[in-house]
Amino acid sequence: MWGVDGEGGRRVQWGWGTTSAAEDRLPLKGWAGPSWVGGMGKQFYITTAIDYTNGAPHIGHAYEKILADTMARFKRLAGSEVYFLSGLDQHGQKVQLSAEKAGVTPEVFVREVSDRFIALWDRLNVRPDGWVETMDVRHKRVVQDMLQQLFDEGQIYKKSLRGWYSVRQEQFLNEKDREADGSWGGQWGLVEEREEENYYFRLSDHTAWLRGYLETHPDMIYPANRQTQLLNAVKDSEGVDLCISRPKSRLTWGIPLPFDDDYVTFVWFDALTNYASFAGFRDREPEVSGLPRWEDLWPCDAHVIGKDILIPAHGIYWPIMLHACGVPDEQMPKILVHGWWNMKGKKVSKSEKIEDDAVVKVIADLVDPNAIADVVGADGLRYFLLADIATGGDSDISEERILVRYNKDLADILGNLLNRTLNMARKYLGGTLVATVHDSELHAGLREAVVALPGKALGHMKTWQIHQVLADIIDGARLANEFVDKTAPFKLAKDPANADAVASIMRHVAEAMAHFSVMLSPAMPETAARIQGQLNWVPPVGLTLGDLRWGMLPDGHVLGEPQPMFPKVQVAAAG
Ligand code: MSP
Repeated sequence: MWGVDGEGGRRVQWGWGTTSAAEDRLPLKGWAGPSWVGGMGKQFYITTAIDYTNGAPHIGHAYEKILADTMARFKRLAGSEVYFLSGLDQHGQKVQLSAEKAGVTPEVFVREVSDRFIALWDRLNVRPDGWVETMDVRHKRVVQDMLQQLFDEGQIYKKSLRGWYSVRQEQFLNEKDREADGSWGGQWGLVEEREEENYYFRLSDHTAWLRGYLETHPDMIYPANRQTQLLNAVKDSEGVDLCISRPKSRLTWGIPLPFDDDYVTFVWFDALTNYASFAGFRDREPEVSGLPRWEDLWPCDAHVIGKDILIPAHGIYWPIMLHACGVPDEQMPKILVHGWWNMKGKKVSKSEKIEDDAVVKVIADLVDPNAIADVVGADGLRYFLLADIATGGDSDISEERILVRYNKDLADILGNLLNRTLNMARKYLGGTLVATVHDSELHAGLREAVVALPGKALGHMKTWQIHQVLADIIDGARLANEFVDKTAPFKLAKDPANADAVASIMRHVAEAMAHFSVMLSPAMPETAARIQGQLNWVPPVGLTLGDLRWGMLPDGHVLGEPQPMFPKVQVAAAG
């Protein structure tokens, strides 16, 4: 059933014909390959929501993937084995409709959109170890396996429903969905009366369990207020079952129900199950599937999702699906809920274009991550999206905020520090760091601030507050700049009697810069590598945060050439 094709890509055959495995599509350019190696015990397992492939990626998608990528890189730097999974949600009505509109098959449409996501992650250095594509036959097999089990156990049943159906949201509505005046709100689009036979999952059999689980496991969701909201929503949802199918007569682009070929499964069992299927759940061919081992990954340590998809999808349906399929309580996943990037207070999305009356001057389209990266680079975008929002909260995107972050923090503080350090070191020391004895309170202050960074970062990252980690690093770089201003090596260097003092100052700032590069590497991997390149320093293999000590650059170390790092973006005059 499985084989290897002539070009080295894995080919998978199961039921729906032959297709290459999802991760074979990961970009090869600069791709280090999965860092994950099985059989080493439980890995720290991070996943993201899978993005709909009915349109181009936008800034909200980019944020989530960059956040999860940074978490994964940070955990590795802290010494953990990590597996990071991300990918795409490729089935469903919206994709089918978009493909029809474009006049192509869903397969062709999805491939084209999927490749745009992959190219973006490649550009932004988002580097998952595993790649989800829900068209992948290995996924379909697990979905059908779960559905068949639940059907055999009587947990899935068929019934006819007559009621009000939202065409936009693709669901039947309840009376409580009506507005106070009895109308259906605009979010539902066209609402029409319909009668349809479908399959239902007995969600209501498990809501009491979920309630009990949430009450006894208050740390399932972060931030805690989201868990409180979820608990209230569970109480409200008691007695309601979940529709899990669509007749093929109106939706063909999905996974067929294994027990009724006239239907495909709809959204929930197709999409939510990816976190398990791509983690090796019920993998029938573990020797050849190329998937990780379930025992090595599960339970998931952080499902990184936006606040709009916690209730009911990830907070109610997903834990109940796992529970119904026999996953024990002690193996329920943990969920990290992030907020939204808004524009003028409204959620950025593909469907709604918000006019930016701040007059877009430099960045062509604030919703398009590529357009932002064109101006401030991949790391400029990563930095903005991580520094300008508290994990869990919302933030507003604007060209001004992006350029202030870039021009001030990155160009004026970080880039300037590196540049002036390397230039002075070349001028006064011929670029070589030597042993020195000169010291002062200012020197000690800088050393203390720098060596405190890893401990502080570990504290912030307990709740994934990456913006605080970044703020500490930029504060450190600001302090290093002040240290140079106050100690004034450019004045001291005029008298040869100050040679030791000058060398000591240079040594301090160069060493600080080496630490900053390591601390920045999860959020800004390209920048970290470029700083290290200019310092002519290769961090020891396997360096972890705990290994960072003052004195990473040895006596006699020769610094590299200064190169401008963050060329300033000139803000055009309005009008
Ligand atoms: N495919 C579903 C999730 C599958 S599981 C049932 C989906 N896809 S999505 O493309 O609409 O959203 C993917 C992720 O991007 C979600 O976690 C969502 O919260 C996040 N974001 C989409 N827009 C966002 C912002 N404007 N800001 C931050 N993240 C938001 O939902």
